Order: sequence, then C-alpha cells, then structure tokens
Amino acid sequence: MPAYSLLVNGRRRTVEVAASTPLLWVLRDNLGLTGTKFGCGIAQCGACTVHLGGDAVRSCVLPVSAVGTRPVITIEGLSPTSTHRVQKAWIAEDVPQCGYCQSGQLMAAAALLRRTAQPTDADIDAAMSNICRCGTYQRIRAAIHRAAKEA
Ligand code: FES
Ligand code: FES
Repeated sequence: MPAYSLLVNGRRRTVEVAASTPLLWVLRDNLGLTGTKFGCGIAQCGACTVHLGGDAVRSCVLPVSAVGTRPVITIEGLSPTSTHRVQKAWIAEDVPQCGYCQSGQLMAAAALLRRTAQPTDADIDAAMSNICRCGTYQRIRAAIHRAAKEA
C-alpha cells in the first residue's frame, strides 16, 4: 500500500493505506484522533469536519490521496489548551447537548470566523450546514456571535 506523509495538528505523520481511504478513517483508526466523528459518511451531516489548509472540509468523503501538502487540523489541534475562542464561547453559551456533532460544529465555526470576522445571522446560516440532531442551532449561533466579539 502507498505511504502518505501528512501534517496533522502540526505533527508529521506517515500512514500506509489505500489511496481511496477517507481522511476520517485515517484520523480515527490510524492516528487515534477520535474527536472527529462519523455520522453519515456521505458529506451531509458535518460530524467529520476538519480543517484542510485552513478550510472546513468533510473528511468522510476526502480520500487521503487528495490531502497532499495541505495541513490538517482536527478538534484535538484547534487549541493546545482547548481555549480557542470558539471553544470558550461554546462553554459560555452551554451549547452541547449530546455532544456528538459538536467537534464538527466547532471546526466549521472556527473556519467561518477566519473568513468572516463578524458574521451576520445570514452568514452563519449559510456557512453552518452541519446537522445537530439535538437542535442546538440557536446556541451555536449565539456562541459564534460571542466568539466574534473576542476577535
Ligand atoms: S460523516 Fe462526514 S458529513 Fe456526515
Ligand atoms: S448536540 Fe447532539 S447532535 Fe448536536
């Protein structure tokens, strides 16, 4: 099997997997980074969202062979001390319910705020297509506004 050299959360990691292996599988099964979740497997729910070259991507449908030299950041690497401004805002707004979707939500929110410093409700609705079965959408929106004020 081919070997892929990936830069994940600032560390160089090498994995030997089939070219079509989804990045999500590599992160969870090969690298033990289980904070990124599997939901639908078809790019619909966003539970598997990570950053690739700074952009939010759905890792369940991204073949490892497509990663190339772009750095990958997972929820474990968003902040070394879990104090990224979105993480602090999520705690302040008491966002999670079951929590399953939340690492993906946090990664999507962090990518949004990198692109748009002060997002409107419409910006948030357009960017945050991640699904939450617990319906935490209003608190997610409040937390993104709170995090934007911390910029
Ligand atoms: S698991 Fe990737 S979008 Fe649902
Ligand atoms: S908090 Fe339960 S699915 Fe979002």
